[in-house]
Amino acid sequence: MSVLVCENLQKTFHSHGRSTRAVQGVSLRVGPGEVLAFLGPNGAGKTTTIKMIAGLVRPDAGTVRVAGRDPHRDPWALRQLGAVLEGNRNVYWRLTPLENLEYFGVLRGLSAATARRRGRLLLERFNLTDKQNALTQQLSRGMQQKLAIAVSLVHEPSLLLLDEPTLGLDVEAAETVKRMVRELAAGGQAIVLTTHQLDVAQQLSHRVAIIREGRIIAEDRTDALLARFSGEQYEIEVVGEIDAARRERLRALGAEPLNGRVVYLGVPEGLWDVLDALRPLTILRVEKDRADLTEVFLKLIREEERA
Ligand SMILES: Nc1ncnc2c1ncn2[C@@H]1O[C@H](COP(=O)(O)OP(=O)(O)OP(=O)(O)O)[C@@H](O)[C@H]1O
Ligand SMILES: [Mg+2]
Repeated sequence: MSVLVCENLQKTFHSHGRSTRAVQGVSLRVGPGEVLAFLGPNGAGKTTTIKMIAGLVRPDAGTVRVAGRDPHRDPWALRQLGAVLEGNRNVYWRLTPLENLEYFGVLRGLSAATARRRGRLLLERFNLTDKQNALTQQLSRGMQQKLAIAVSLVHEPSLLLLDEPTLGLDVEAAETVKRMVRELAAGGQAIVLTTHQLDVAQQLSHRVAIIREGRIIAEDRTDALLARFSGEQYEIEVVGEIDAARRERLRALGAEPLNGRVVYLGVPEGLWDVLDALRPLTILRVEKDRADLTEVFLKLIREEERA
């Protein structure tokens, strides 16, 4: 059963006599315990899609179901989701962190006592306990971002929408957020994550959906996508001169000696013969060429641009 199902979402904005077709038929599904990385260039339609899922922007067409119900009609569905949007506007600057957590917890159906208890736990988890009584506007940007994430979690939603959650965070805070995303997914929460930090997406996501100009252009399991774009090439780095006799032998095996390294493109079993031909040189590194999400993303976007 999917926690989030959206089908054929569409949104066109009209302003100053111009219309922008921001989202043109986006369908997504996310199951419990699954992290979907929702990626795309600036202006591709990610935030608009997230806002339609969160019940903040009304779609022109299409449907959203969160735990089976429509957040645009059913307040119960809103309690099943937590969202951190761009520019952390989901916290009140004139309240303290703890007051924010209590306020939003109660707003989403918790008793005041439960909201306070969970609020305290979240502040602890995010290392914000010593700021619990400061005004939110006096917190640093990264602290505010952590608070925004804490607020989105206080009612223990089954779906979490994170729009660029690690933007502007220091290394440690970003690691905290990444660890939380993993823990929440392990605990069964469904998570939609947008980010331009593709290494973060690669580390956290089970599946990737790429949007460009309002349409999904690729969707697959993260590992499958990486495997699809990874070559069959091995690179071997050695210390010392590869002499003429060895060079010849390597070429006969389908390996190309370049300076200080050997590139092998044949079948994987043949790698042993290549290593044997290098004996007794010291081998520094043997590596299979493996695409990262940045390469995959750029290739897919460029393919679309050419099409
Ligand atoms: N309220 C609005 N009024 C008019 N146009 C809008 C509005 N919100 C978004 N748009 C336009 O819709 C398109 C998609 O914007 P959106 O914010 O969804 O992109 P995004 O994928 O989140 O980009 P980014 O990576 O820069 O955050 C853009 O062309 C944007 O200018
Ligand atoms: Mg955005």
